[in-house]
Amino acid sequence: MANLGWLASLAAAVVVVALRSPFATAQLRPGYYASICPNLETIVRNSVRQSMAQSQISAGATLRLFFHDCAVRGCDASVMIVNSNGDDEWGSPDDQSLKPQGFQTVLDAKAAVDKDPQCRYKVSCADILALAARESVVQSGGPYYQVELGRYDGKVSTKSSVVLPHVDFNLDKLNGFFSGLGLSQTDMIALSGGHTMGAADCSFFQSRIGTDPTMDSGFAAQLRGTCTSSQSSAFLDPTPLGFDNSYYKNLQGGRGLLGSDQVLYTDPRSRGTVNYYASNQGTFFYDFTVAMTKLGRVGVKTAADGEIRRDCRYTN
Ligand code: HEM
Repeated sequence: MANLGWLASLAAAVVVVALRSPFATAQLRPGYYASICPNLETIVRNSVRQSMAQSQISAGATLRLFFHDCAVRGCDASVMIVNSNGDDEWGSPDDQSLKPQGFQTVLDAKAAVDKDPQCRYKVSCADILALAARESVVQSGGPYYQVELGRYDGKVSTKSSVVLPHVDFNLDKLNGFFSGLGLSQTDMIALSGGHTMGAADCSFFQSRIGTDPTMDSGFAAQLRGTCTSSQSSAFLDPTPLGFDNSYYKNLQGGRGLLGSDQVLYTDPRSRGTVNYYASNQGTFFYDFTVAMTKLGRVGVKTAADGEIRRDCRYTN
């Protein structure tokens, strides 16, 4: 009996901790829509395939959109809300560079889901974005992982709520930001591997060219040739359409594009993990799926404070 009493108080303590945690995730599970919309994953998979065939940049744009959604107000698709007065997350300077192809990928997937009478208006935009981000990774050659589902869509989106990491962040600042989301330094380094896809405008790294001693001189010369106009951009790694570990190999050679990428190798406290991922793609893939799952749990809404949006751009 004494043992049972001990167990009961432990269970009570766990419940209290779970209720207090800002990252409470009780309602998320991979099979959430199994009876509500059994073909959900296939529908999203096929829709993302079409989006990627239409535009090569849609996969990277969708993955980045998921990060910007989860990091601001949680994974609630608030990043997709368009407010008529312009006061929404997309209106903030940090979100202006999100590419329309990411939004379009999610809108098209939502339309495909809602075409199925069983699923119509029953699957949240937040969950479709989470699935579309996974598909973007998988269909670019990256790892598969089960996506936990059951998020509700947020009802609020404002410019002022957008706080995101910047390219001039050092390791402490990067860690500070990600720990605010409940993510570790390892999670942060693995998620930064998302920069194995896509490109960045020259404005984000131009100030490093010729001034940052951690940038390889040949790479600096190459970028000088690339950034000839304010519209120019460069790929984040040499294989911008493929999801692989070349991002980390690139950092070892001083060829990281953003300051916040290169600092992961420059700082001795994170260099070991970069080296490990550079030589073990399997470990990077595994850690990336763990970190994406943790990112997907941030600030999840429930029926009490969310809704299932009919149009991902507008609250119901
Ligand atoms: C660690 C802090 C991070 C910083 C400072 C950062 C910053 C940036 C910047 C400045 C760009 C270029 C935007 C442009 O010119 O259009 C970019 C692109 C991108 N970011 Fe990040 N990012 C960070 C973390 C992440 C994470 C965690 C992910 C996802 C797991 C991610 C995924 C991407 C992708 C896929 C692109 C390419 C987008 C495209 O080509 O449309 N980033 N990021």
